[in-house]
Amino acid sequence: MPILTIESTCDETAAAVISDSGEVLGECVATQEALHERFGGVVPEVAARAHVERILPVIDTALTQAGLTGDQLDAVAVADRPGLAGSLLVGVVAAKTLAVAWHKPLVAVNHLHAHLYACQLSVDFPVYPCIGLVVSGGHTSLYRCQSPLDLEYLGGTIDDAAGEAFDKVGAMLQLGFPGGPAVSRLAVQGDPKAYDYPRSMIREPGYRFSFSGLKTAVRYSIAEPGVRDFSDIDLSEQAKADICASFQAAVVDVLVAKSRRAVDQYDAKYLIVGGGVAANPALRQALQVAADEDGFQLVIAPMKLCTDNAVMGAIALEKMKRDEYAGLDLDITSGLQR
Ligand code: KG4
Ligand code: ZN
Repeated sequence: MPILTIESTCDETAAAVISDSGEVLGECVATQEALHERFGGVVPEVAARAHVERILPVIDTALTQAGLTGDQLDAVAVADRPGLAGSLLVGVVAAKTLAVAWHKPLVAVNHLHAHLYACQLSVDFPVYPCIGLVVSGGHTSLYRCQSPLDLEYLGGTIDDAAGEAFDKVGAMLQLGFPGGPAVSRLAVQGDPKAYDYPRSMIREPGYRFSFSGLKTAVRYSIAEPGVRDFSDIDLSEQAKADICASFQAAVVDVLVAKSRRAVDQYDAKYLIVGGGVAANPALRQALQVAADEDGFQLVIAPMKLCTDNAVMGAIALEKMKRDEYAGLDLDITSGLQR
C-alpha cells in the first residue's frame, strides 16, 4: 500500500503519495519564496505560519492526485529533523494527527538523508555504499553512506552553508531571494577568473568547509567596508556577472576538491549529491568532469528533487523495511544535524 510523506523543514510545504515500489502517485510543493523575498532570507515565524495555512491543502492535493483517501495508506511519514523548529512542528503535528485519525503508523525521516536518497530515486541500480554530499541552504556536509540509513559524517561547514553564501551574495547584488538560482543564471555571462576569491580550507586535510570568508571577500568587492546599504550600489551588469561567476567558481572548486578526495580516500564507486545547491549547473558539470577524470560514477539528484520536496521522503520505505516506526511521542530535532 502507498504511503503519505510530509516535508516542512524550512520554507517549502510539501506532500507526496508514494507506492510501496517507490512510484510517485501524487505530489505537491507550495513554496514560500514570495513571502520571504522582502526580508532577503527565511523568517522562521513567517515560515511556520505559512506552513499552518498550507499543509492541509498540500496534503489534500497529493492525495487527490493519487486518487486515494487516508484509509488506503500504509503509513504517514514526516521529516522530523533538522530544520526550523516552528516549521518542523507543523509537519510533525499534522502527521501525528493524521496517523491517529487514520489508524496508521508513523515514520520519521531525516531531511538530510532524504536529500541524498533523492539520488537513488533517479537511477535503477543501487548507489549505496557511496560518498554523499549534501549542499543546501542549511548544510554542506560529506558522508560515508553504507546504506540509505547508515551514514557516517565525515565533515561539513564550520560556518555558513554553500546555499546560504549563494543567497547572501544574491542579496548583496540585489538579485532577489533565493539568491542561488539568480546568481547561477548571472554567472553564465561572467568571467570566473575576474576576481580571485578565497578557496577556504581547500588544502586542509579532512572534510571541513568554510564559506564565511568567501562571503566577506565578495562583500568587499561590492562595496567599501563601512557601507551597509547595498540598494544604491552602482555596479555594471558585467561586474555583477563577473562577481557571480568568480564566487560560484570558488564554491564549486572547494566542493569538488573535497568530494573527490573523500571518494578517493574511501575507494567509493559512487558519489551522490543532493540539496538545493546540487541544482547548480556549474557544480554539476565540474563534478562530472571530476568523475570522468577519477573514474567514479556521479549520481546527482534530478533538478526537481534537489530543492526541498516530499518525494525524497520515499526513504521512509527503507525505514519500514527495517520496522523502524516512530511513536506518537515523536518530537522535532531542530538543531544542525550531522
Ligand atoms: O535544499 P533546499 O531547498 O533547502 C534546504 O534544505 O536548505 O536548498 C535551498 C538552497 C538555497 O540556498 C538556494 O539558494 C540554493 O539551495 N539553490 C541554488 C540553486 N538553486 C537553489 N544554489 C546555487 N545554484 C542554484 N542553481
Ligand atoms: Zn533541504
